[in-house]
Amino acid sequence: MSAPADRTDGERPLAGARIAIVGCGAIGGALAFDLVRAGAALTLASRSAARCEELAAALGSGVRIADTAPEAVRAAELTLLTVGDGALSGVARELGAAAAESGPAAMLHTNGSAGLELLAPFEQAGWAVGKLHPLVAVPPGAWRGERFRGAWVATRSNAAGATWVERVLAALGARSLPLSDDPRASVALHAAAALLSGGVVALWSAALDAARTAGEDPSLTAEAFASLAAGNLENARAIGARDALSGPIGRGSVELVRRQLDALAAVPDAAQAYRVLGRRMLALAVERGSVSDAQRDELARLLA
Ligand SMILES: NC(=O)c1ccc[n+]([C@@H]2O[C@H](COP(=O)([O-])OP(=O)(O)OC[C@H]3O[C@@H](n4cnc5c(N)ncnc54)[C@H](OP(=O)(O)O)[C@@H]3O)[C@@H](O)[C@H]2O)c1
Repeated sequence: MSAPADRTDGERPLAGARIAIVGCGAIGGALAFDLVRAGAALTLASRSAARCEELAAALGSGVRIADTAPEAVRAAELTLLTVGDGALSGVARELGAAAAESGPAAMLHTNGSAGLELLAPFEQAGWAVGKLHPLVAVPPGAWRGERFRGAWVATRSNAAGATWVERVLAALGARSLPLSDDPRASVALHAAAALLSGGVVALWSAALDAARTAGEDPSLTAEAFASLAAGNLENARAIGARDALSGPIGRGSVELVRRQLDALAAVPDAAQAYRVLGRRMLALAVERGSVSDAQRDELARLLA
């Protein structure tokens, strides 16, 4: 696949770089597409040869398939370790044991909850190491489409790994969210991101259940609610959660909240979510000063 003609190699930070991708699943495949477009020379390895072949065929010519993961790593300046969560630590251990035998290179992993400890054997052998955890949901097989352009990626690296992290992000057109040096930073950020990412989807689904009989056409309700959620998130991003808060809890409308809880009773987890999230809304309303003490106490009782 050739590079866009209007770019020079100086603007293509991974042009010609020898990169191995170990784990040809959702993230590995999506990265492979963008890195081939960025001009990298890719070698693929995965648990199954069929998976590598499927990805290589989709990528077009010029992509190598290695017989084993260690062989792919040995051939590369940079390896992206993108195997699934269950196999990750075993594969990292296996590759790490061989790291001292080959000359130092670079190894980045994409896992959310693991930090650099996963790559300790590489670092001890003098390698550049880091993590690149894309805050992007890539479904299985959704390889095409510049999925990382403009996206945020949680990053951490040793000094030598920082250059590789920058080069990969520049090639992807992605933005860095640097992690702190707190040893629990990775697991904390990953847990919070999972709460948000899955939580938004689950909340949308529960709200649609609660509105099931309310609209003439449920598909229009689904569109309208997705737009409502996106608009609120954009407001919160722009002016902060406290000022973006809307709805009866933020206004201290006790009777309306009581009626809404009655209306949600037929969908118990939607009612439960209303109470749990309502307590957070009430805390924001109290901080903003938009509810009286009496309203606060009555709402707290309803939402308990
Ligand atoms: N998907 C996302 O949205 C997302 C977002 C951010 C971070 N991540 C992280 O990225 C990593 C990969 O996630 P994913 O969603 O891409 O998982 P995935 O779709 O399940 O792919 C994982 C790949 O790992 C390969 N694999 C498993 N055992 C292996 C082994 N022993 N040697 C070599 N390859 C092996 C599998 O290969 P075969 O197919 O050949 O069996 C599979 O294709 C995870 O750490 C995940 O937490 C994922």
